This record gives sequence, structure tokens and C-alpha cells, in this order.
Amino acid sequence: MCGIVGYTGREEALPILLDGMRRLEYRGYDSAGVALLSGEGIEVSRKAGPLDALVQELEGHPPSGTAGIGHTRWATHGAPTDSNAHPHSDCSGRIAVVHNGIIENHEHLRRQLERQGHRFNSETDTEVVAHLLEAKVAERSCTLREAALAVASELEGAFALVCVSSAEPDVIVAVRQDPPIIIGLTADAGFVASGIPALLPYTREVMPLDNRQVAEIRPGSARVFSFSGDKVSVDKVTVEWDEAAAERGGFEDFMLKEIFEQPDAARDTMRSRFDESGGVVLDEVHWSDETLRRITKVVVVACGTSFHSGMAAKHAIEHWTRLPVELDLASEFRYRDPVLDDRSLVVAIAQSGETADTLAALRFAKKMGASVVAVTNVVGSSITREADAVLFTHAGPEIGVAATKTFTCQLIALNLLALYLAQARASMPADKLAETIEAMQALPDQIEETLLLQDDVHRAAKRYAMATDILFIGRGVGVAVALEGALKLKEISYLHAEGYAAGELKHGAIALIEQGVPVVGIVTGQALYEKMLANIAEVRARGAETILVARRGDERVRAIANELFEVPTTKPLLSPVLDSIPLQMFAYFVAKERGLSPDKPRNLAKSVTVE
Ligand code: G6P
Repeated sequence: MCGIVGYTGREEALPILLDGMRRLEYRGYDSAGVALLSGEGIEVSRKAGPLDALVQELEGHPPSGTAGIGHTRWATHGAPTDSNAHPHSDCSGRIAVVHNGIIENHEHLRRQLERQGHRFNSETDTEVVAHLLEAKVAERSCTLREAALAVASELEGAFALVCVSSAEPDVIVAVRQDPPIIIGLTADAGFVASGIPALLPYTREVMPLDNRQVAEIRPGSARVFSFSGDKVSVDKVTVEWDEAAAERGGFEDFMLKEIFEQPDAARDTMRSRFDESGGVVLDEVHWSDETLRRITKVVVVACGTSFHSGMAAKHAIEHWTRLPVELDLASEFRYRDPVLDDRSLVVAIAQSGETADTLAALRFAKKMGASVVAVTNVVGSSITREADAVLFTHAGPEIGVAATKTFTCQLIALNLLALYLAQARASMPADKLAETIEAMQALPDQIEETLLLQDDVHRAAKRYAMATDILFIGRGVGVAVALEGALKLKEISYLHAEGYAAGELKHGAIALIEQGVPVVGIVTGQALYEKMLANIAEVRARGAETILVARRGDERVRAIANELFEVPTTKPLLSPVLDSIPLQMFAYFVAKERGLSPDKPRNLAKSVTVE
């Protein structure tokens, strides 16, 4: 949530800041702003609306300076107006601050500061930081970094802050408590950002700050301190992503590009994870087989799309390992008093590796003595540093707010984990393990075939784009596909969609069916095939039109489909990888037909770093 960029060096900072902000705009697009430092002081420019509105505003009179900070906002406190846009300044205009997160004690601090005579210009929680810094610098005649250290200890909540002061025109100070802050250095410049894509044009060696750290960044160097003021060293992490991976590359939208990257993303996620003797190797999961055999239950925690991949994984883990699996929304998990001990394995799934609730769930699980394995796409993200083991999805950067390739790669990574556990616990016959691995290895080519459905899906999207409600139904692992299909559609097309376990329809949702209501059905499963056909017959009998995802050549399904998406056949538990692809494309094309921008759906942000 909220994109932050900072630059200090020899070049004009504005184009660098705007480029970084464009690369991070998926984190928030309610407003945008920059603060440029020059010998003259600080010039702040801010504008409600997407980044382009700010760019237009600055045309003809760009602010100049060789250091500066920029921000794209996802509003929390205060409506998305010009005056609530970041950066925020102190009374004197000599300090500017951008922020990602929520300062929970801002009201109390604001009242105190107002009593001391500070004048506020916005409704944001962030502005208190600018005034607090002003007060500390005045009180102690200290540097910006020293003031930031003092202020950090007064703030409660989650905050990634980046600030500048006209008294130190080549210095940027960054403060981290929870939301990410990443530093990048070249020989003569220093960069700071809330996401890796902003740094990719300059360096692939990044330095993520740890929690409760403050950095003082100058051209070519950075010094990092803990909140207690001790100087600390920060490890560099090398990112595999290249700059082109974070560009649209000829596609109209990132989402479409990312849908079409799925064959390669799937290949990359599986690369080096099978050995020659036909086993699964997960070098990053360094627990011994004995430890894995001691596990008595698995708990999967995640949010949003990641929750849906976890829901599918529950089936695979239970079936292949015979371990009981609990599935929890990360935002609920720690509040339900869950039963965990040192024989529990918690699987925390987060594409970004930064989702506040998933991180909190992970910390809770560790406190209860459980072992935690994280499944994430972002090297160096918070979750990677706190989990006991990390399984990366090598999907490459995902910029579209609606998760697509990272979902299918999560499914693959989680299946790998399930097979790995089954192997260690000897819970799966060798021939079944070998067959399943073979089926997994066929998936990238099958995804390629599935993408050929593009025209069929586009036609169906045109036909139903103006519907007001759409139901998605499935059974078994198909429930996760149905929920994810419905989520994709509502996220980017704002069309009311609901995902349901098909057998549950009769207990309520069937009341929504009337003549012409589209129902998307996942009919690729074998075990509950007949039951699924019966559920489809029930909605058809009440006037529903059907959009069905079926195995290629299934004539019975063809006969009852108004629109049909035929996917290649794989093992039922792997089927969500293929079944979800036409539904991603369906959501994409419906959004386009409705004239919406799929990459930046209203009110959403790619990475949710507040609870
Ligand atoms: C946001 C995004 C979703 C994502 C969810 C969880 O809501 O818009 O696409 O699924 O966060 O994100 P995570 O990074 O934890 O997978």
C-alpha cells in the first residue's frame, strides 16, 4: 500500500522519482506527490488522482533538484484530495515526509502538537511526523536522522517513512516499522523505495531494512541504525527480476501480460525442484525427514487470492500426506485462539511477503512454538526473514493488482510442498508420487494450450459483460477455483460475483437464480462429476445460463453449456492450475468490455501493509 521512492545523487531527481512512482503505482493511485530539494529549499507538488494528473500539473514548470522523495497514495486517513496527498510538510516548509502505513496514536500527537502551536494542513495521520521532526530538530539542534530516531519511538502503529530536510540537501532518512523499505546504491547515488520494481533500472542488489531500523542515505552510501541508535549492518539481497520483467512489454495491460507469462512462471517455479530419481527437492526447506514426520497437523494462513491457493492446497496436503489441514484467513487466525504446538506446521502464503495480517499470523504461530514455512514471490520481503523456511514462487514481478501468475505459481509451489511432505512421511505410494510429478511437469505446456482459449473467453465476456450478478460454483478443489474466479471478476470489473460450493447452492444462493443469470461452473473434477452435473441441472432448470470449464472433449458438459472453456486433462488435484486460467481471462475481458482499467481497480492495492 502506497508507493514510496527517494533519490539522492547528481542527476535531476524528478524524472527518476516519477519513473519509480510509475513502477510502484500499483501500490496505490489515489493521489501522487513529490518533494524536490535544491539549494533554494524544498518544493512540494501534490495532486489528487493517478500519477498522470501530477505529471500533467508539472508540465512546463518541473521542480528541480538532485534529491527528492515521491509518493503514490492508497488513502487511509483523509479523503484522496490534493491537501491530503503526500509529501507532508512541517510549519516552516523545511521538512517533507512520505509515509506508508497507519500511525495509530496520531490524534493524540496532533492535539499535543497543536497545543504547542503547530498548524496542520491535512486530515492525514502522516502530517504529525513532519511536525514532530520539526519540533525535535528545533529542540535538540540535531540532524534529520537523529530527529527521526527520536520520533520513531513516539509513534505507534505501522510506518515506512521517508523524509528530507532542506538543512541537509543530499540526505534522505528512512524509517521502518513493519511496511517494507528497500535501499539501493550505485557509485554516486542512493535510492530508497517501498518495492523492488522502482530500483530495478539502477541495481539488482538491494538492501531491505529490518523492522525498527532507520537509514541515512547519501549519494553512494547508506548508514543504518536500530531504533535504539546503534549502527547496524544490512545484508544485500540479489534480485533475479530484470527491468524488462516489470514493463508491459507490448501488452495492453500488465494483467494480460502476466496471464500470458504463466507457462514460463510455472516452469521457473518448478525448476530444480525435482531430482533425477523422481523425487521432490526443496533445498530451502531444511527440516529433516524426521522433523517432518513429527508434524501432527498443518495450518494454512493467507489473505485474498493467496487464501484461495491455500484452500486448494488443503485438499492436496490432506490427500497425499493424511495430515489434517486447517485453513484460516490470516486476519482471523490469531483472534480465534487456535490450538498450535511444536508439532504444528504453519504454511503462510503471501505473494508480496508483506501482508500485515499474514505477518502477524506468522509471528503468532512462531510464538506458539509452531514451525512456519512461507510461500512468497518476493525475495527479501518481511515474511522471508521471519519464517523458518521459505518456498519461493519464481513468478517474476506481478504489477497488475489482481493476482494471476502468482496464484498459479502458488498452487504449484504448494503442490510441491505437499508432495515433499508426502515423500518425507512415506504417505504416498512411489508410483503415485511419480505419476503426480509427471503430471506437474506437463503443466507448463498445458497452461500454454489453455491460453489458446483466449478468443472463446473473449466472446463469453462480451456476452455477459453487462450482467449484474454472476455465480461461480465448483466442488472439491473446484470450490477454490470458483471463489478465485468470483474474486477476480469483482475485483476488476465491479460486477457482483459470488463463489459457492455447488452443493451449498440449495441452502440459499439458488434464490438468486432467475432467467438469464450467468453461472460459471467448474466441471473438471472426476470424483464429484455427477453431483456437479446435477447442481448445474438445478440452476439451468431455474433459467440460469451456463459458462462451464470442462475437460477437453467432454460431450455431456458441452450439451449443457451456453459457453464452454475446454481445458487439458490433468490430475484432479492439479486441475485448479488450468481451470483458473480461463476465469482470469474472463475477468480481464469483462473489465475491458466495461471500459475499466484491470491493472488498477478502484479502492484496491497490491500489497496490504495495514491490518
Ligand atoms: C491484496 C491484493 C490481492 C492479494 C491479497 C493478498 O488484497 O489486491 O491480489 O491476493 O492482497 O496479498 P498477498 O501478498 O498476501 O498474497
